[in-house]
Amino acid sequence: MTNPVLSAIAGRRSIRSYKAEKITREQLDVLLTAAGEAPSARNSQPWHFSVTENRKILDEINAEVSTILKNDVGDIFHGAPAVIFLSCDPESRWARLDCGIAVQTIALAAHSIGLGTVILGMPDPACTGPRKDHFNALLKFPAGHSFAVAIAVGVPAGTKNAHPVEPNRISFVD
Ligand SMILES: Cc1cc2nc3c(=O)[nH]c(=O)nc-3n(C[C@H](O)[C@H](O)[C@H](O)COP(=O)(O)O)c2cc1C
Repeated sequence: MTNPVLSAIAGRRSIRSYKAEKITREQLDVLLTAAGEAPSARNSQPWHFSVTENRKILDEINAEVSTILKNDVGDIFHGAPAVIFLSCDPESRWARLDCGIAVQTIALAAHSIGLGTVILGMPDPACTGPRKDHFNALLKFPAGHSFAVAIAVGVPAGTKNAHPVEPNRISFVD
């Protein structure tokens, strides 16, 4: 069986190579509207979306992650022209899970309009490390929020194969 939703789910890939072209404000609005339409526990919508196209900010995060990990990580944003950071109150029971659902909603919406994405945990050391106050302010996280996850977005410059689905991760319980 197939339909547009199943095709988008099956066709999405983590894209780690982007064209230089910027994505439009209209495209960003499509993604952020879709994100806001994601379900959340008790409809709490615990997320905040910080959108940046500022290469200086992204390079500063790259440098901080490299420093903390004592390893040159290069560009953890894979040259994407835009990155959306999701933050939430880490003490809230379901908030980080809600952010995970929202970020996959962004990934699917982006794929459906011809954009590529990669979900990113790699900014975490910068956003939760010794200079977290600096980075949280730079990224305009609301008070009490901390980094949940990020997603890089852009026009894909390459593709990759689907990851194999593991059937033994499913149990039917009678
Ligand atoms: C929570 C989460 C964090 C991730 N962090 C990164 C990351 O920091 N850098 C990266 O290149 N890919 C990251 N990925 C992408 C995964 O590596 C990717 O989803 C996985 O290899 C499966 O490939 P696919 O998305 O193309 O199906 C992350 C994915 C998730 C869900």
